[in-house]
Amino acid sequence: MTKLTNSPAWLALAAHRAEAGDAHMRDLFAADPARFERFSLRAADLFLDYSKNRIDRSSLELLTALARERGLEAARAAMFAGRRINTTEDRAVLHVALRNRGDAAIEVDGHDVMPAVREVLDRIGNFADKVRSGEWTGYTGEPITDIVNIGIGGSDLGPVMVCQALAACGHPRLTMHFVSNIDGDHLAGVLARVRPERTLFIIASKTFTTIETMTNAASARAWFLAGGAKDADVARHFAAVSTNAERVAAFGIDLANMFGFWDWVGGRYSLWSAVGLPIALHVGRDNFNALLDGAHTMDRHFVEAPLEENMPVILGLLGVWYRGFFGAASISVAPYAQALARLPAYLQQLEMESNGKSVTRDGQPVDTPTCPVIWGEPGTNGQHAFFQLLHQGTDLIPVDFIAPLAASHGLPDHHRLLLANCIAQSKALMVGKTADEVCAELAAGGLSGEALEALMPHRVFPGNRPSNTLLLPDLSPRSLGALIALYEHKVFVQSVIWGINAFDQWGVELGKQIATRIAGELAGGARGEHDASTAGLIAAVRAAR
Ligand code: F6P
Repeated sequence: MTKLTNSPAWLALAAHRAEAGDAHMRDLFAADPARFERFSLRAADLFLDYSKNRIDRSSLELLTALARERGLEAARAAMFAGRRINTTEDRAVLHVALRNRGDAAIEVDGHDVMPAVREVLDRIGNFADKVRSGEWTGYTGEPITDIVNIGIGGSDLGPVMVCQALAACGHPRLTMHFVSNIDGDHLAGVLARVRPERTLFIIASKTFTTIETMTNAASARAWFLAGGAKDADVARHFAAVSTNAERVAAFGIDLANMFGFWDWVGGRYSLWSAVGLPIALHVGRDNFNALLDGAHTMDRHFVEAPLEENMPVILGLLGVWYRGFFGAASISVAPYAQALARLPAYLQQLEMESNGKSVTRDGQPVDTPTCPVIWGEPGTNGQHAFFQLLHQGTDLIPVDFIAPLAASHGLPDHHRLLLANCIAQSKALMVGKTADEVCAELAAGGLSGEALEALMPHRVFPGNRPSNTLLLPDLSPRSLGALIALYEHKVFVQSVIWGINAFDQWGVELGKQIATRIAGELAGGARGEHDASTAGLIAAVRAAR
């Protein structure tokens, strides 16, 4: 394939960018009364307003032309058809099969994966029903009151984000806990709050080799047995979620309590699989199914809608536009919903572990920047922390505002103020405040002369800072499922344009390998060959022990 920057569509976009220069969105809105209708759309219950972006009609035409030129439609078809598009690991990429709610078969190497998907889903539902109803008890006969999920990365971030987002429909008897960090404070803090005879541990690890998870799991089991339980009681208190039955058995978990998934489910795309077990336990089988339904609706939209009206495609292309032509090195995610507090962290893994790559699928260096840094906090908190930089800092940082229209609490005034702030921020970023407006405002406040001149530059907002606003009807499982699937497909779209493999993560391996060697040295093993900094730090830690 031609280098991205040499491709006709990319060159056309570069010319278009040069021509548009610093055209201000204020003027674009003034010139086009239909701009909001033109640049907004609905899909799978979600509403996207992307009119506050630095685009006009031809920008969108050129961006979709780029998508076609880069083979997005064929790449999308290949993913949904179960082709081995994760070439460096020789795997299919089929998280969409996990929420395939229709009757259609989805095949990998001629084998329909759907019967196995449905079987595991059914087992998850049955298990969740039993724990939630109290039929599943701990070894003393008491019902389970606390679920502790032990996992990290994709085996943690999805479930923790969704459980927090859907807390309003959580089971009243069950308290969810998530332990990910190898820092003993994390596990110890949770263990201090639970009782062994009422606690169910879920050990979630695709590989069942991840050092953090295995260390936490071993400590959790030791704590459980130290509380008076016998080895035979482990079966009532430990479940496993993994693709690796051999290692689950070796760890001592009854395979009857193992919920499997497959190598074609990437860790960061796995919350729809057995990795979602804590979600099903928390919100129940029906709500878990509704989450899958919402995602499936977005999948259908992604497959069926023309590129020009395709929400994940538009989000992905806008990201490529800012990264490639405006030098935007980061984007901020601002959920105006406290319940979505972990969404930025979830999206960090989804986007940055997927598209944080610098070689193309055929191993050549990329010729444009790829994934930006993703960061954010819920609104309105972020407004009182980093929004200053978004409004008046030196970088252009596109923002995704995300807000549910209906709240699950009974405090309507709060929700009105929350949404008012969300809309106000996107407006302020877009319109800014000119020097003339600032002068008029200061003069009206009684300031003039040198005092006015001195203050004026500090009070000017450049504006023209882009944002998307995504409105959800509510924070229901269905809307949330659609929202997560939207971002998954956005990431895919970008990977196709950039020509990279979004589904491997070799970049996390080197640090893991070195950590294993250093852990041996910290335990008193022979010293390895190191640079002076690393050797000095190891010596400092050894000296402190
Ligand atoms: O950080 C690398 C990674 O492999 C992630 O991709 C994955 O989600 C996480 O570790 C956890 O892996 P596992 O589920 O195999 O424990």
